Amino acid sequence: MPHAVRVYLAPGLFEPEDLIGAAAVVIDQLRASSTICSALGAGAAAVVPCEEVAEARDRARASPGSLLGGERAGQRLEGFDLGNSPAEFTPERVRGRTIVFTTTNGTRALLRARRADPVVLGSLLNREAVARAVAAARRPAALICAGIRGGLCAEDVLAAGAIAGRLRELGLGVEDDAARLAIEAWERVAPARASLLAALHASQGGRNLASIGLESDVEATARLDAIDLVPVLDSRGLLVPLAR
Ligand code: MLT
Repeated sequence: MPHAVRVYLAPGLFEPEDLIGAAAVVIDQLRASSTICSALGAGAAAVVPCEEVAEARDRARASPGSLLGGERAGQRLEGFDLGNSPAEFTPERVRGRTIVFTTTNGTRALLRARRADPVVLGSLLNREAVARAVAAARRPAALICAGIRGGLCAEDVLAAGAIAGRLRELGLGVEDDAARLAIEAWERVAPARASLLAALHASQGGRNLASIGLESDVEATARLDAIDLVPVLDSRGLLVPLAR
């Protein structure tokens, strides 16, 4: 029997203990998963995910040399070094640095998934690397869409479909209805970059970004398999590149 792939279309659709024994992939395509992947790809030493802004400020204060990043309502917060745009996380800015990071939905979904092992972050940017890492874990796979304020959003469903489809090609079983629907959604846009971009711009996250003038972030995240790196939550609660 091949291990199975399940997709949770929103984080409220699982209880934390449901993930015991599974490999979890937390997906916040716009933008936390894509941004953290970009940060580690640019050489950041680690990302410290925090649920609350006050907690992030405290942790950054307690870690001299760290950078504070993230958003609320999509915008960089007062006193933060970085927002949540992938393009901000350049090697010049982040190489060797620890980034304390909080976002509205992504870091929250990640922390809710921590009973799984491993817990990794997935997006279109690192689809192939994530799919290979999950297939190598030889466990059931739980793909978790971070969603927006508890609800479903199309950009996460598309990325979940991209990863689930690749896992199916790598031999995992896909019986779950949510996984099959996500794959169908992905296959409708995958053949043409213009269709993928249009779908991401039309999604809830894409529209939110457009409303604050950050639509160029959509293009930055729409590069399939551009980053060969898997952010994994380690035993200290830090996101670091998975050793392969
Ligand atoms: C989130 O975690 O809610 C997102 O990353 C929001 C955003 O795009 O800034």
